[in-house]
Amino acid sequence: MTNLSTPPHWEALIASANRIETTPSLMLLQDHTRNSALRLATGGCRFDFTRQRVDQQILGELLALAEKTQVFAKRDAMFAGETINTSENRQVLHPALRDGAPKAPAPLRAQVQATKGQLYELVENIRSGRYTGYTDKAIRDVVHIGIGGSHLGPELAVTALGKPNSKGTAALGTDSSPNIHFVANVDARDIALTLAGLNPETTLFIVVSKSFGTLETQLNATTARSWFLERTGNIEAIGQHFVGVTANVELAKKFGLNEERIYPLWDWVGGRFSLWSAVGLPIMLKLGTEAFEEFLAGARNADEHFLKASPAENIPLIAALLATWNTVALSCDSLAMLSYDQRLALLPDYLQQLEMESNGKSVSVDGEPLPYRTMQILWGGCGTNGQHAYHQLLHQGTSRFAADFILVGQDDLHRPEHHQWLLANGFAQGQAMTLGTQPEAKDQAHKRVLGQHPSTTILLDELGPEQLGCLLAVYEHKVFCQGVLWNINSFDQWGVELGKQLALPIFAQMHGKDASDQDPATRHLIDYYRSLRPADS
Ligand code: F6P
Repeated sequence: MTNLSTPPHWEALIASANRIETTPSLMLLQDHTRNSALRLATGGCRFDFTRQRVDQQILGELLALAEKTQVFAKRDAMFAGETINTSENRQVLHPALRDGAPKAPAPLRAQVQATKGQLYELVENIRSGRYTGYTDKAIRDVVHIGIGGSHLGPELAVTALGKPNSKGTAALGTDSSPNIHFVANVDARDIALTLAGLNPETTLFIVVSKSFGTLETQLNATTARSWFLERTGNIEAIGQHFVGVTANVELAKKFGLNEERIYPLWDWVGGRFSLWSAVGLPIMLKLGTEAFEEFLAGARNADEHFLKASPAENIPLIAALLATWNTVALSCDSLAMLSYDQRLALLPDYLQQLEMESNGKSVSVDGEPLPYRTMQILWGGCGTNGQHAYHQLLHQGTSRFAADFILVGQDDLHRPEHHQWLLANGFAQGQAMTLGTQPEAKDQAHKRVLGQHPSTTILLDELGPEQLGCLLAVYEHKVFCQGVLWNINSFDQWGVELGKQLALPIFAQMHGKDASDQDPATRHLIDYYRSLRPADS
């Protein structure tokens, strides 16, 4: 048990936590009524929670907790457009981006439709070659510049759904779809390697930044614009080769974007919930508008499920209750996101922002310090690679962790041997983490695997836009429910600000400004860096 204290309404659960500590997972798995309650599906995504460390009594207590914390009343408030992001005084209405919030204000829903119409027109024009660069050539390469929520979702979806299949043609991105490149990091290599080999006449840049003030995006966009101007000398063509997605139209215009090609992002959409909006432009360009509609439909399915399913059958709620149980009661301080499908290699990165930026908090909605454990460190990897690296620690180390396994049932490459080995390994790793093994011989202790680690197995029937949309929206709603259970505002991210502010004087001091008021560690680093730099750089 954690020696931190526990959230309100956890009295019964804490007593149960002590009981479950000594209950082997195999015993839990022998209760078939429990198992059926823990197998739930929606939108082609099957969630198997049976490897979690809960019995029926605990499940009942967790559901009672959900009722006491009024998760569903708060869900309804979010979907109706109440200002639940109190520290930023904002509504939280990303489900409206996929028409999944029927009670959201009508003008807001109309705005979403109108913007989508404009985006789809642009997408059709680019994919058909009607939209051309300044020398009348069709667009072949699209460079998406953005970071965090303005990057991770689009790159995940394009990577997951836009890759070639066994026939060598793009799965959904047809021959008419442009190549999509992503630039996020402020490291010059990111943009330099991306631009190398691109032809400015056939390249379109999408600058995505809700604030249009994020350092990395500003610098990368400026570098891209210089690259374009150095090669074309045509400042008039900037408006044709650069489009923007932002809530800050004035700054985007100042940068030189053509107002007609600035697509809105609204303050009721958090960056990490924004891939369903104009931020998803590269997804639309790669997959086409029809597939993007399927992606939205998958997410809408998850919204409907979240709104309508009873608490005991509500996947985001059950996922959140179990994940919160794992942190608060079982002291699991990390969550391993193990995707057993190469197309989902970026899923851990995406979920890191979604879960950790949302619920990595230590004050309550009312600004009170939280004395209990909140979101764990989420990390992860892809395929069987991790089994030959960090799984050793997962099986025999001393850390307490939970894991999510994500696998895909359909063998789209028609390589059954590869596919079945992939799935067999994923299933087996979950089994080992659950059951472990206890060698009988005393001198074989080094082979002992304790098991008893909680995990969820998520099996997608296939990996198409609908299933991916559904999966991501389920995680969004899980994050919301966990925020309610922890009494956290999941929709702000003030913790990222300090580092941004501290970097400003350090940047100036690296260029010669007096650094004597810095702390000794930072001052030493700055001084050492200055000793390495040529005097005039
Ligand atoms: O610094 C964190 C953050 O604000 C994220 O929340 C956001 O997704 C990212 O930076 C990018 O912000 P923007 O879209 O305003 O450039």
